Amino acid sequence: MNQTEILGASDIARAAALLRAGELVAIPTETVYGLGANALDAHAVKKIFEVKGRPADNPLIIHVLGTADLDRWCREIPASARLLAARFWPGPVTMILKKSPAIPAQTSAGLDTIAVRCPQTPLTRMLLAAVDFPIAAPSANLSGRPSTTTLRHVLDDLSGKIPAVLDGGDCSVGLESTIIDLTVQPPMLLRPGGITLEQLRSVLGTVTVDPTVLHPPTSSQAPKAPGMKYRHYAPHAPLTLVKGTPSASAAYISAHCRPDCGVLCFEEYLSCFPSAQTICMGSMQDETAQAHLLFDALRQFDETDVQQIFAQCPAEQGLGLALVNRLNKAAGFHIVNLEVKP
Ligand code: TXA
Ligand code: MG
Repeated sequence: MNQTEILGASDIARAAALLRAGELVAIPTETVYGLGANALDAHAVKKIFEVKGRPADNPLIIHVLGTADLDRWCREIPASARLLAARFWPGPVTMILKKSPAIPAQTSAGLDTIAVRCPQTPLTRMLLAAVDFPIAAPSANLSGRPSTTTLRHVLDDLSGKIPAVLDGGDCSVGLESTIIDLTVQPPMLLRPGGITLEQLRSVLGTVTVDPTVLHPPTSSQAPKAPGMKYRHYAPHAPLTLVKGTPSASAAYISAHCRPDCGVLCFEEYLSCFPSAQTICMGSMQDETAQAHLLFDALRQFDETDVQQIFAQCPAEQGLGLALVNRLNKAAGFHIVNLEVKP
């Protein structure tokens, strides 16, 4: 393949033409960049799996312009879906619903359900308005790598492998969308993200949480979102997640880290590890900043020669649940728990 074209707001027609022709275009969203294809074109969707090296049993999310698309691409839509869409779309929540037969099996990886999401980013909304099909898009990273939240990340993983990327600047949220399964009663959170569990419960009442959101899968308990079972978000060097108060985790890390270690830490503790390579993930008070910086920080470690990484761990409330979920996976559940049990 030739060089990857970088497209902007004046190139929406070009991006739409590429998608119509069955080609891939990376698209910006408020969560992470997506690797887009015409969701109705099985051949185009197959290219997504090939370029990412994505296992064929891992279904894709379809991106749509608004609530009206629910009736077009889904069936047996519960009232909860319309409530969530009215409250949070466009925005970072993805709903699992029964699939219309118009969506090919390649897109849903053979499932009878489909993941639907309505992104916020203006350029991608312009692109959706210019085509008459939903855009299937997983995160625009090579499988196993941290998701891409900047144009630079997309080019690092996919340059020369895809015809074009739509440049929307840096992603504002920085973590993938919340996924909620509305085909079960009560609804179940499959992946925490920018719309928090607390926000979902404020609209829907009871929402259960897939146990694998915070605990390693077991042989009898696989994640309900097939993609969550794969090693994910991982930098090359092994990562140890240190749970506890920020001061306790900082003390543990400073006692255990060697000069060839990296430390992912809160801004307030940057000066505590003078011999290690530190990367800041924002203030300990500011989960929004932490979400925004996490994947870039994990990617930055891959440009160093650190042999081991320690990370301080945010609290599990609000956006923190999504941060801890991604850090657990990046660490392969290698966790040091300093929390005092009640
Ligand atoms: O924020 C996002 O959601 C981004 C942007 C690009 O929209 N997309 C994204 O896609 O994170 P991906 O493919 O990296 O993650 C989609 C997750 C996977 O874990 C997949 O297994 C799950 O959604 N999923 C998709 N369809 C599903 C279904 N029908 N039932 C259960 N899980 C599903
Ligand atoms: Mg992904």
